[in-house]
Amino acid sequence: MIKVSAPGKLMLLGEHAVVYGYPCIATAVDQRMKAKVTALNEPTFELEAADVDVHEYKKPLTEIGIGDIPKGAKFVEIALQNFLQKYPINGGVRVETSSEFSSQFGFGSSSASTVCAINAFSELFGVNLSQKEIFDLSYKTVLDIQGKGSGFDVAAAVYGGTLYFVTGGKVIDPLAIEKAPLIVGYTGVKADTTTLIKQVAEKKEKNPEKVERIFQAIAKLVDGAKQKMLEGDWERVGKLMDFNQEYLRDLGVSSEKLEALISAAKKAGAWGAKLSGAGGGDCMIALGPNDKREAIQKAIVEAGGQVIDVLPNAEGVRVES
Ligand code: PMV
Repeated sequence: MIKVSAPGKLMLLGEHAVVYGYPCIATAVDQRMKAKVTALNEPTFELEAADVDVHEYKKPLTEIGIGDIPKGAKFVEIALQNFLQKYPINGGVRVETSSEFSSQFGFGSSSASTVCAINAFSELFGVNLSQKEIFDLSYKTVLDIQGKGSGFDVAAAVYGGTLYFVTGGKVIDPLAIEKAPLIVGYTGVKADTTTLIKQVAEKKEKNPEKVERIFQAIAKLVDGAKQKMLEGDWERVGKLMDFNQEYLRDLGVSSEKLEALISAAKKAGAWGAKLSGAGGGDCMIALGPNDKREAIQKAIVEAGGQVIDVLPNAEGVRVES
């Protein structure tokens, strides 16, 4: 039996543009997805994932990836299918997952459970995988299911820390920085990432030059923010987040609720604030001085948000003793 865990993530800057070949900066958060994986003598796959309403799901290994797969079981099942295609095993596996964070937050629970599964299978069956190999197999799994996505969430779950990341893992550059003075507010609304990616694609189709210009501008401020983070100039990073938010608004992915929380945080003294992830809901993030932290959190709650107490820069996937 093996126990593993992988962190959730937050996008700091560069969402949407990163789907189109540009860089982003993401951080792993200290709320984790956990998986306990046991080898079975019979060639079956068993899954218990109460957080996503999967109870005692069971099928023969010969039927992995076939038929109607419940939503909550997809990522672990297709992860197993991809693992088995490369590394055949004798017997079967039982996987039990549980999460420290709600799958509603947009912390990347699907990617984190995929990464947990791949890492646990490799440990359990003695296959030595590098971080990049875990990333590649997990990212393939996510693409098999979702068809689109930059893979930044997979990278955050594998590598942890704060990453400068380019589409598909072309660049995965861990940044040696201090923990960002980050404040996170949840809108209470679940973002529909697939629909929002599609909306941006349609916008790009209609107005390619304008959207390309926005992406290039976002990429430029991502590069600037990377430098400022390395220098520890969080005030400037906050300002760059504000600019990023303006571009996201132009792309049409913000929402009234996000704007309300962002503006409340800024009025209460945040250096900058923006949505984090696909938009339309999920979380907003703010950077601010320590002496304003409580006031910013209070303002987010008064504006109808829920403050989520997480620390950035968390450790990537690991085996738990
Ligand atoms: O919805 P989230 O938090 O997984 O973030 C989506 C971010 C996008 O850039 C829109 C998509 C992606 O895969 O990078």
